[in-house]
Amino acid sequence: MTTLIGLSGSLRTGSFNTALLRAAAALAPDGVELRVETIAGIPLYDEDEEERAGLPAAVTRLKDAIAAADGLLLATPEYNNGIPGVFKNAIDWLSRPPADIKRVFGGKPVAVVGASPGPYGTILAQDAWLPVLRTLGTRPWFGGRLQVARAHTLFDDAGALTDDATRERLRRFVHGFAAFAAPAPAPGAARGEAAGGAPRGEGR
Ligand SMILES: Cc1cc2nc3c(=O)[nH]c(=O)nc-3n(C[C@H](O)[C@H](O)[C@H](O)COP(=O)(O)O)c2cc1C
Repeated sequence: MTTLIGLSGSLRTGSFNTALLRAAAALAPDGVELRVETIAGIPLYDEDEEERAGLPAAVTRLKDAIAAADGLLLATPEYNNGIPGVFKNAIDWLSRPPADIKRVFGGKPVAVVGASPGPYGTILAQDAWLPVLRTLGTRPWFGGRLQVARAHTLFDDAGALTDDATRERLRRFVHGFAAFAAPAPAPGAARGEAAGGAPRGEGR
C-alpha cells in the first residue's frame, strides 16, 4: 500500500484546490490511498508562542501524518503571483523544530498541483514552492505538470470535477506520482518469495 497525503493550501469551503485533491483521491490507482488533509486550525507562526507553548496540536498531527506517508501532494492556490500566506505559514510551522525537518520532509517524494480561475493555473505559485521544497530536503517529482486554469468552468457547484480532459490529466499525474512515491519492494518480493509465490524461473 502506498499512502499519499494531499494538502490543500486553501481554507475556503468551495476551494478549487481542495476539490482538485478530492478528485485526485478518487482517481488514485489500486493500492494507493490519497488522504486529503487540511491546514485549518494552524495559527499564525510566532516564535515567542512556539517557545512558550510548543507546537499546536494541529501541527504535530500533520507532521506525524506526513512523516508516516510515502508522499506529499501539495495543491496550491496562487495569490499575487506567489504562495498564499496561509499555506506558507502552515509549512513553516511543519518545519519546526529544525531538528525534526529530516523526519518529516527529508527525502520525501513531493509533487505540486494547483487550480485557479485565471488563465495560468497557478504556474507562478507552483514555481515559488521549489526553493521551499529544496530547503526542506524533499525529493520533488518533476515527471508531470498540472496547472488547472479556468477552474470555475471545470467544477460544479458541489466541487465535483466535471471536465473529462482535466480528469484524465489529473489521473495521469496521480498515477505517475504514486509510482514515484511507492516504497521500494522488500527484497525477494518481486519473485513472490515473501508471499510464498512461484519459485525463481517459473510463473513469470
Ligand atoms: C489575495 C488574492 C490574490 C490572488 N492572486 C491571484 C493570482 O496571482 N493568480 C491567480 O491565478 N489567481 C489569483 N487569485 C484568485 C485565486 O486563484 C482564487 O481565489 C482561487 O479560487 C483560490 O483558490 P481556492 O479556490 O483553492 O481557494 C487571487 C485571490 C486572492 C484572494
